[in-house]
Amino acid sequence: MQEPLKFAYWVPNVSGGLVTSTIEQRTDWGFEYNRKLAQTAENNGFEYALSQIRYMASYGADHQHEATAFSLALGLATERLKVIAAVHPGLWEPSVLAKWVATADHLTNGRLAVNVVSGWLKAEFTAMGQPWLEHDERYRRSNEFIRVLREIWTSDGGAEFAGDFYRIRDFDLKPRPVDVPGRPHPEIFQGGNSTAARYNGGTVSDWYFSNGKDYDGFSEQVEEVLGHAKTAERLQPVRFGLNGFMIARDGEKEARDTLREIIEKANRPAVEGFRDAVQQAGNSTGDKRGMWADSSFEDLVQYNDGFRTQLIGTPEQIADRAIEYKRRGANLLLLGFLHFQEEVEYFGAKVLPIVREKEAELAAREPQLTTV
Ligand SMILES: Cc1cc2nc3c(=O)[nH]c(=O)nc-3n(C[C@H](O)[C@H](O)[C@H](O)COP(=O)(O)O)c2cc1C
Repeated sequence: MQEPLKFAYWVPNVSGGLVTSTIEQRTDWGFEYNRKLAQTAENNGFEYALSQIRYMASYGADHQHEATAFSLALGLATERLKVIAAVHPGLWEPSVLAKWVATADHLTNGRLAVNVVSGWLKAEFTAMGQPWLEHDERYRRSNEFIRVLREIWTSDGGAEFAGDFYRIRDFDLKPRPVDVPGRPHPEIFQGGNSTAARYNGGTVSDWYFSNGKDYDGFSEQVEEVLGHAKTAERLQPVRFGLNGFMIARDGEKEARDTLREIIEKANRPAVEGFRDAVQQAGNSTGDKRGMWADSSFEDLVQYNDGFRTQLIGTPEQIADRAIEYKRRGANLLLLGFLHFQEEVEYFGAKVLPIVREKEAELAAREPQLTTV
């Protein structure tokens, strides 16, 4: 909590923008746009960029660039930005990924990270001829996958692992990833909100990524994940990232009107199609508690429930919310925008300075603050 709040942005490496709406979105999924955006982002307070992985058109995104290749290219085009590439266990072999990341980490001087996503789109797996495991089995596989990555990256010599999904025997990785002070190995993020995802967040991943949530929805997850972390053998404490779609405007009315227009112009068939597809996520679990299980039509117009975080209004209003999420345990806010390039600049110029001021006030007011 003593550390400044960190910021990440969603790399728009899929077409169609971050909201499924016909409202104008000044963004582009191509590399030229993304290269400039990454450079702008690292100069405007962003420490991380998260590349998404989709293998097939879904939810209005007709074209998509693969996440690991794209992340590496962005890492090479920047100097300080850390790039997080989404990867699916089941599609990647952990040893191959461990090797790929080690090389990419050297190419970027220790700035490569992964987001382990367990998969929600069954059509994607079946189209590629891959078996589709039941929800909690997918997370059990992800748990092993992360442990294998850690074992390979940190073991001194032959890595060993024997699990239900993966076996590694005397695997020697040379070179190991870059030795970055305070980082035992390339960071491992994990996206997902179900009971199984929370367990993995607390026990094996470095970062737990939450979908967009209101204050209580976020706190409730933090508490549960920290509960798992208490009894786990961890190299470092678990950290929390929270998704939010930011609409920062000089006036509150302008920001609210923009949200209204996004929803009014929603691409209904695509949103409804998405609602059907995500039944394979939280809703397919015994306790029906995962991501999207209780999302409304409006929520789903931003596919990671980003409106729920309510980072919508003036810079001052947004900074207040950011600080409250920090009080509740957020280490990082993951942001999406309508017009990426210009709004990332607006964030750096108008929102970030107020966040930093309010953080200093918070530290003076509540110096002992840990998670509330
Ligand atoms: C921040 C974040 C990023 C994600 N990125 C991807 C992605 O790039 N590709 C993907 O297939 N799923 C992605 N997911 C989906 C998750 O891996 C998971 O399938 C989904 O959150 C459902 O989780 P649940 O079943 O635990 O509720 C992401 C989730 C979050 C929260």
